[in-house]
Amino acid sequence: VPAGPEAPCALLAGPPLAQPRLHASHKGSYGDVAVIGGAPGMAGAALLAASAALHAGAGRVYLAPLDPAAARLAPGLPELMLRDWSSLPLPSLAVACGCGGGTAVADVLPQVLPQAASLVLDADALNAVAAQADLQALLRARSQRSLPTVLTPHPLEAARLLGTSTPAVQADRLAAAQALAARYACVVVLKGSGTVIAAPGQPPAINPTGSARLATGGTGDVLAGWIAALLAHGLPAFEAGQAAVFRHGQLADRWPAGEPLVAGALAARAGG
Ligand code: APR
Ligand code: MG
Repeated sequence: VPAGPEAPCALLAGPPLAQPRLHASHKGSYGDVAVIGGAPGMAGAALLAASAALHAGAGRVYLAPLDPAAARLAPGLPELMLRDWSSLPLPSLAVACGCGGGTAVADVLPQVLPQAASLVLDADALNAVAAQADLQALLRARSQRSLPTVLTPHPLEAARLLGTSTPAVQADRLAAAQALAARYACVVVLKGSGTVIAAPGQPPAINPTGSARLATGGTGDVLAGWIAALLAHGLPAFEAGQAAVFRHGQLADRWPAGEPLVAGALAARAGG
């Protein structure tokens, strides 16, 4: 793959250096993440994202489940702070929104899109944006205020956002990711084998790590929480997307052969 600014794309050689944990620091130095998602029957998706954010090194992690009964699942991670989404201090948070969100996530986006300090939109949050022009306008408006934003669609979610079909996205993944980044003025992580990370006006990057071992429910939720943790650390959105995608795949590549790779275990090793 050619290098340099004229190159059509870059193959990621490795993630940027991890943020060092300085001696004279405290949890406030590493940023706060909130995960909003987990509709009835999908609570685990939000929990996976929150676990990944925590293990990837966010200073504090809030979990705002859209299913009130989801609180029953959280005792497995006593570090998480359970909140109703409407009480979150959005302007000081890196928010991961939409994991297992169901249709209820459309109701939180009018508040979250303008207010979240930095934002990862995944799964049903992307489906809501694809369906609603008012949410698209709020998403585009974030770039005018330089608020970092990362979209993490799988190919079907990307097709909905572009108003096209999954085969059309898969036929030219680089073009699809770049078109999405341009249309919504934000960083796009187009998932799947050879994940593409694109940002407006920049050559996209292709991730070389990861394998079909990641093809198991919830690994995308882990990625969303991981990116949010790196945004909370202060990494720029394009770098946060690249670094989390690279390490998420690398963790799978290094997974012990005899051990099942499930999303909960992947989340527990994020950042390790
Ligand atoms: N090679 C490399 N990476 C892969 C492969 C592969 N063959 N298969 C999957 N992955 C990676 C993807 O790149 C991505 O990081 O695994 C992750 C899968 O993410 P998702 O497709 O979002 O899957 P999941 O987390 O189970 O999504 C859960 O959210 O997006 C919705 O409709 C989705 O209801 C589902 C839910
Ligand atoms: Mg997903």
